[in-house]
Amino acid sequence: MTERPTPPVFTRVLPLLTAAPEHPDLERGYLDLLGGRPEAPSGPIQSFWETGFGSTLYDHAQSIARRVAPGWYRLPPRARPPVGGRVLDIGCGPGNFTAVLGRQVGPAGLAVGLDVSGPMLARAARTQTSDNVGFIRADARELPFPDGTFDLVTSLAALQLIPAPEDVLAAACRALVPSGWLAVMVPTPHDGLLHVVSRLSGDRTGLAFFDADDLAEQLDAAGMRTVHTRRTGPVLWISAQRPA
Ligand SMILES: C[S@@+](CC[C@H](N)C(=O)[O-])C[C@H]1O[C@@H](n2cnc3c(N)ncnc32)[C@H](O)[C@@H]1O
Repeated sequence: MTERPTPPVFTRVLPLLTAAPEHPDLERGYLDLLGGRPEAPSGPIQSFWETGFGSTLYDHAQSIARRVAPGWYRLPPRARPPVGGRVLDIGCGPGNFTAVLGRQVGPAGLAVGLDVSGPMLARAARTQTSDNVGFIRADARELPFPDGTFDLVTSLAALQLIPAPEDVLAAACRALVPSGWLAVMVPTPHDGLLHVVSRLSGDRTGLAFFDADDLAEQLDAAGMRTVHTRRTGPVLWISAQRPA
């Protein structure tokens, strides 16, 4: 059997990994670092995102939301990626935003989308992969990159699904180069409703909700500075810079 050549984007991604596999699994168009095994989902919503139907439905829903409410997906201005820079998009889902980042960094730059869901990544790989945009199946709680790898780390609408989000934030901060930016977007009910929704959803959904103070405290604890927050409708953006 002839070995297929490694797609150009992965020739750039593999050398960045903390421990590059000897035989990278690129069978499905993304780099699978979880050995094809399913991860235990954090709750029923994440279970749904790990199905073909769930990922298809999500992809259509988010493409409508992008058109109807583009402001939800707008990066905070200071956290724009540098041309030629490296970007990591945690919980990238079908990869549309990762591809936007790829266009912003340009051909000399690199945008890597990371997710646990095989069906989401299969969509991303099929529609969004390019020479500077590639996707990895890995768990955000164990980022496969050494500290100081990325100029920008983003995460949109994913943190609420991941157990131990404070560990994910801390790891994301460590993955940044000095002066690099982190930009996180989370769906957040308006202040008065936040605690009611959190209590009602509780353990049943596996979802966590955050307010700006929760996230700012976690970023502060991770040694980040210049924390900006912006609320646009039901979403909260928070961005912070790693000290030089
Ligand atoms: C609601 S989708 C958001 C997708 C994308 N960021 C967007 O805005 O269109 C949340 C994504 O987070 C992913 N996710 C959940 N837990 C994760 C984990 N532990 N590690 C990596 N990704 C995770 C899910 O599989 C899902 O694709």
